[in-house]
Amino acid sequence: MHHKVIIEPFRIKTVEAIAMTTDQERRQFLKDAHFNPFLLKSEQVIIDLLTDSGTSAMSASQWSAMMSGDESYAGARSWHRLEKTIHDLTGYPHILPTHQGRAAERILYSHLGGKGKVFISNTHFDTTRANIEFSGAAAIDCPVEESLHTEVTYPFKGNLDTKRLRALIKEHGSENIAAVILTVTNNTGGGQPVSMANAREVGEICKQNGILFILDACRIAENAYFINHRERGYGEKTYKEIAQEMFSYADGCVMSAKKDGLVNIGGFLALRDKELSDACTSLLIITEGFTTYGGLAGRDMEAMSVGLQEVFEPDYLTYRIRSTQYLGDKIHELGVPIMLPVGGHAVYVDSMKLYPHIPVDEYPGQSLVCELYEKGGIRCVEIGSVMFGKYDETGKLIPAAMELVRLAIPRRVYTQSHVDYVVEVFREIVATKDLARGLRIVREPRFLRHFTAHFERV
Ligand code: F0G
Repeated sequence: MHHKVIIEPFRIKTVEAIAMTTDQERRQFLKDAHFNPFLLKSEQVIIDLLTDSGTSAMSASQWSAMMSGDESYAGARSWHRLEKTIHDLTGYPHILPTHQGRAAERILYSHLGGKGKVFISNTHFDTTRANIEFSGAAAIDCPVEESLHTEVTYPFKGNLDTKRLRALIKEHGSENIAAVILTVTNNTGGGQPVSMANAREVGEICKQNGILFILDACRIAENAYFINHRERGYGEKTYKEIAQEMFSYADGCVMSAKKDGLVNIGGFLALRDKELSDACTSLLIITEGFTTYGGLAGRDMEAMSVGLQEVFEPDYLTYRIRSTQYLGDKIHELGVPIMLPVGGHAVYVDSMKLYPHIPVDEYPGQSLVCELYEKGGIRCVEIGSVMFGKYDETGKLIPAAMELVRLAIPRRVYTQSHVDYVVEVFREIVATKDLARGLRIVREPRFLRHFTAHFERV
């Protein structure tokens, strides 16, 4: 059978110029940014794969919905529309709008957390972990064993290890477990999907032990695609039905709509329990805004209502997952070690395998991030010991589980020729890999150091 090229299922109506730069200019820009691409100006970047968050291109339908945004302080029409959309998707009765995902996290986890409390997740994302630890609570990652081996192909590497979850509940006591958080897809673990069977089982364990079960649903449409294509019994279900079933097993969700909401800003918290929702509502009003806008403009809520529906369209999701796969396959063919199988929103490179000559405490991931920028103006992020490393009492680095570099693909933004360019830059990366050098940190803050740390080449 002849397989046709998966084309971008959209035409381009508005364009944004990309500023081209030379190798020499980029070397200076990177030095000025202290070898931390978070400190670059966006116009110094050619292809920006830093994140898929808030970087989506909106559709004509979203832009036109924005014009009908109702900017009333209370009871805006745009809020009622958004509330209905989220209720229809999640089934949860209590919905709190927030300006982005971490605001929902802060509200929920600061209320549930505090000293002595424990949260368990397949893997906590950086802001999730930071919010939990900032409250004084502990965050324990509990991914399945398969997730730690980048070369092992396993269809649901995002799953939570339920055997270990049971053991952790025994060890800490269910009364001390503030929540179990299932992140779909598992961003930190490589954008890997969680199976429906796993979500169902986690839900059952939580119910048996009286523990709150929260979904971090920011990429739930992409996760639904994988369930539809990989899990028995779901091939005939729509992507939205699959998402709805997954929500049904949990007690609530936090969502950054900057991902699968296809918007540039927005998020929400949705809960089953009224008492919990009331407590969170007080915090919402103190810091985010009134209950019917939570830090968002009416027009933002309109764009989100439309985005949350568009994201489940089959042509969109097919293009989305297949184009991420395309980048992964192409660089894998060049011999770049990547997390297999390719996840939904990003390709993750295993930098320790690419640069075996750079020790962990010289941050091989950050080195690759810098090489990609210097050689091609590509910006991406280290997800390894810069992001998650800790120090022991003697100041020695306790490394993260893996040294990954994430190439996150913004939604509906880049075309296949942009991706082909990235592949070409990787060809050069592979040819010169022995020359890459490590980095040392010369300045860092206490929390979330990867955003602002300064580095020097070793
Ligand atoms: N949960 C997950 C799984 C995320 O990936 C993110 C954000 C958040 C929560 C927080 O949402 O940014 O709207 O406050 N991830 C972005 C990323 C920043 O680049 O992966 P937010």
